Amino acid sequence: MAKILVLYYSAYGHIETMAHAISEGARAAGAEVAIKRVPELVPEMIAHQAGYHLDQSAPIAMVEELPTYDAIIFGTPTRYGMMAAQMKNFLDQTGGLWFENKLVGKVGGVFTSTASQHGGQEATILSFHTVLLHLGMIVVGLPYSYPGLTNMDEIVGGSSYGASTLSGNDDSRQPSDIELEGARFQGRHIAEVAAKLAG
Ligand SMILES: Cc1cc2nc3c(=O)[nH]c(=O)nc-3n(C[C@H](O)[C@H](O)[C@H](O)COP(=O)(O)O)c2cc1C
Repeated sequence: MAKILVLYYSAYGHIETMAHAISEGARAAGAEVAIKRVPELVPEMIAHQAGYHLDQSAPIAMVEELPTYDAIIFGTPTRYGMMAAQMKNFLDQTGGLWFENKLVGKVGGVFTSTASQHGGQEATILSFHTVLLHLGMIVVGLPYSYPGLTNMDEIVGGSSYGASTLSGNDDSRQPSDIELEGARFQGRHIAEVAAKLAG
């Protein structure tokens, strides 16, 4: 059984919702799954003014615990075409793990969200992969065996790089069925790959 961490940052709840779908998929493949988040860095007053969801129940992850997992699936909203600073700040604390090769050979995957259809989902995931490769992780995306990737009937997130959703300019759009199914598929797929590598 693979041990998996779904590690996310979410200001308005879209990535939080996707994180739960990722975890459902991983659990369906028999994995033991923890859902945790990285700490908020924005000053509380600004977070309140901007309407951030500050009452999320997932515990805060510790950098030191990362090597205890077979796979880590990272979720971040897109911020100006790349990952959120909150997630990058957490990753920038993994220098000690990098130095000791603690994450080498572990499986890593990324999922994201943007406000707009062409707001940088693929750029965010691909630039996030750079960090995972520096850490020696084995990058796994969302394969085309997930039929939702070829959907042409509605505007939808998701690419072979990873699951994603669109929040709309006012963050009122919620992850769609196809996007949530893509997240479940990626979670299940990564759990299966991690179990094979761990076994
Ligand atoms: C500072 C900032 C930068 C953002 N940059 C982008 C962007 O480059 N492209 C985009 O489509 N949306 C952008 N957004 C919108 C977020 O991606 C959107 O609010 C997020 O995906 C919602 O996910 P969450 O509910 O998990 O926070 C930005 C939002 C903020 C606050």
